Amino acid sequence: MAERMKAHAVSRLELLDLAASLRLRVAADREGEWTAGSPPDILADLAGRIRSCRLCPLAATRIKAVPGAGSASAEILFIGEGPGYEEDRQGEPFVGKAGQLLDRIVKAMGLSRDAVFIANIVKCHPMRDPSTPEARGNDRPPTPEEIAACRRYVDRQIAAIAPKVIVSLGAVSAKALLGTSEGITRLRGRWAEYRSPDGKAAPIPLMPTYHPAALLRDETLKAAVWSDMKTVLAFLGRSVPK
Ligand code: URA
Repeated sequence: MAERMKAHAVSRLELLDLAASLRLRVAADREGEWTAGSPPDILADLAGRIRSCRLCPLAATRIKAVPGAGSASAEILFIGEGPGYEEDRQGEPFVGKAGQLLDRIVKAMGLSRDAVFIANIVKCHPMRDPSTPEARGNDRPPTPEEIAACRRYVDRQIAAIAPKVIVSLGAVSAKALLGTSEGITRLRGRWAEYRSPDGKAAPIPLMPTYHPAALLRDETLKAAVWSDMKTVLAFLGRSVPK
């Protein structure tokens, strides 16, 4: 009996192993077949992949993945850090308190959420304590591994939208997109360039600014963000509010 149980345990382990390697094979195969269609088709395909993605440990604790939302032909692409509590529940980017502030910024720029695209560097909610997903205030910045796993999606979203300007929101996004370790205080307000991974596409002007959540903590940062957004509008030849 003991022998039979041992044999059973081994074969179960083997099965788990096989399932894991099959999952990796499927992921690797799918990597080779990225959709080449219209921007909305590519974004829809990416959203499907993101929702079923299991490339990093965040997949095990997320409620909903948050691919991003907005216009596939947006001139401005906002890229934040990662979904929080509300976003995890709704599957939509920037719908919590920081999101409401981002909405006000976008509106003050004479735009709407539908006219821009809003995404994040990682697509699933990084939690300090994943065993309490129902807790608020449980957010943490994504790890370098989580950022690396999501990078294929972010780069492809950027390529599909081909925005005229990327606005990175906060330090995590700016550092990841620019491949720098410089702090956000030095980076913000100064034009930088996003470069595609293969270097083939034309660089895209990128304006790093503070994260809306930082403005909620420190109102004095609002003037800097507004100044950065006016710089973006002027660059795009759009009317700049006083
Ligand atoms: N903070 C982010 O960086 N992204 C969101 O979607 C929400 C809050």
